[in-house]
Amino acid sequence: MNAPVMQGLTLNTPSYVKNARLIAWVADMVALCKPAAVHWCDGSQTEYDQLCEGMVASGTLKRLNPAKRANSYLACSDPSDVARVEDRTYICSEHKENAGPTNNWMAPAEMRATLQPLFDGCMAGRTMYVVPFSMGPLGSPIAHIGIELSDSPYVAVNMKIMTRMGKAVFDVLGTDGDFVPCVHTVGAPLAQGQADVAWPCNPKVKYIVHYPETREIWSYGSGYGGNALLGKKCFALRIASNMGRDQGWLAEHMLILGVTNPEGKKYHVAAAFPSACGKTNFAMLIPPQALNGWKVTTIGDDIAWIKPRKDASGKTRLFAINPEAGYFGVAPGTNTLTNPNCMASLDKDVIFTNVALTDDCDVWWEGMGEAPAHAIDWQGKDWTPELAKETGAKAAHPNARFTVASTNNPALDSAWDDPAGVPIDAFIFGGRRSTTVPLVTEARNWVEGVYMAATMGSETTAAAFGAQGVVRRDPFAMLPFTGYNMSDYFQHWLTMGERLQADGAQLPAIYCVNWFRKGADGKFVWPGYGENMRVLKWMIDRLEGSVAGTETMFGTSPTYGEITWSGLDFSQAQFDSVTSIDKAAWQQELVLHTELFNQLAYHLPKELEETKARLEDRLNA
Ligand code: OXD
Ligand code: MN
Repeated sequence: MNAPVMQGLTLNTPSYVKNARLIAWVADMVALCKPAAVHWCDGSQTEYDQLCEGMVASGTLKRLNPAKRANSYLACSDPSDVARVEDRTYICSEHKENAGPTNNWMAPAEMRATLQPLFDGCMAGRTMYVVPFSMGPLGSPIAHIGIELSDSPYVAVNMKIMTRMGKAVFDVLGTDGDFVPCVHTVGAPLAQGQADVAWPCNPKVKYIVHYPETREIWSYGSGYGGNALLGKKCFALRIASNMGRDQGWLAEHMLILGVTNPEGKKYHVAAAFPSACGKTNFAMLIPPQALNGWKVTTIGDDIAWIKPRKDASGKTRLFAINPEAGYFGVAPGTNTLTNPNCMASLDKDVIFTNVALTDDCDVWWEGMGEAPAHAIDWQGKDWTPELAKETGAKAAHPNARFTVASTNNPALDSAWDDPAGVPIDAFIFGGRRSTTVPLVTEARNWVEGVYMAATMGSETTAAAFGAQGVVRRDPFAMLPFTGYNMSDYFQHWLTMGERLQADGAQLPAIYCVNWFRKGADGKFVWPGYGENMRVLKWMIDRLEGSVAGTETMFGTSPTYGEITWSGLDFSQAQFDSVTSIDKAAWQQELVLHTELFNQLAYHLPKELEETKARLEDRLNA
């Protein structure tokens, strides 16, 4: 490892870094941000341990009880810095219409002029970490490289867990390889002699900025999650969606699963769900006892990069990788019933953020299980179950997180790190809807599938977005993550389908699911979690051609008899209540689709308008 060097002296660039563009850019950023030191991360365990030790000493991290959570830490953030800041997130394309109506926009020159004084000297008194990372297996034809410059050691260690981070990235980069430059600062420069705080950030000024044409990311003022770990939402979705559109591939907010049937035949599905729809639970699903010949394995839990390529038989297919190497998951609500694989992943080598600290130096969050008699909440205050009853005080922040390597997951797929990726057989799109949307529907063709995904919506929960039960349209679960005009993104999906078909490709089937229909008693009817395997099995049966389904005005759905019910008491009446199509509710729903299409009218593909018109005809027939 290189010793940190004082600014003004040499950058102390390691001898194995040979990329001239990278070296020049780091020099420029050092001159701008004026850090006290520069540390080139090598990604080693020694480096990780030393950085964590340093943060324990500075108060940013608490070491957890090694007998309970080996090599694990707790960080508690500033109360002003607890989530992604969508209202401070910008797509700065040259032309406003290329950012579209669903993104915040500012002209690049204006944004650069705004950021220049903020970044000037922003790292004073701090170390700049140079964090080299590969999104996807090193050297994979589907992977891409980024370099994040950050003044947060918390970011450096989280990036080691979340990405393939370290020295080997420079070998792939070589002398002239391409990378996405990502600059991050907590926006809290230290004056000479000024003491630091446990969670430095800028409580007043935050900017999460993307320049899609020049493929740059600049993030100011936050140290939290997607605002600061720039490989995730900023690169792997907002910048990569632009790369995908220009280069003919897909960057999606999707988990990736391997599904193996009792005969050993394996399928791969990619599924998009908005926040707060049980995405991590689905990514780690354990099939119920009665279906225990089936096996579900995780390739990714949040993001998929998908490129077309010929398979061994010469047929073009879509191959997917998980660009990430770890999970940055929501802790509250996770327990041994909702997600046993996830709980097993959290035994060791975890960084927790904003959960509660128990008296025996372990962690606790709402929904984990029996509450401790006393804990320290995420804001450092005493918490007891009695206090929670009286005041509603939460021990963990509702968006509290764990950062853990994929390799901790007992259900990790053997191909999760395969540079070739896995061939996708089906796409699944789902939202949280207490009414209207049936349990599962298969699109009859690609365009209908794109329509289903484009119009999907999800009811907000108190934890996500404040108000409860309001349907927020979230096309493809990409509303906060598409780095260009949403209607152009729909067009890109349609064009990809046309190109693949012209190439004789086998197009993945497209399904729309909803686990969240409620009965007259206001309770969820479908049991969810592991039982979702029954729906997944029906999809695979459809791919196999062993079930015919039944035609609805919306697509193809299962009959009661086509779902395997052994081991689950679920009546025809219950099935009807989660699959029925209420015409009046759908008439209302289509009004909302029209509202969405009016908002996205610029460049809205005519195929989607036509699909809506056909749906209206069927509804009114
Ligand atoms: C996430 C999100 O954190 O989608 O993954 O909000
Ligand atoms: Mn996500």
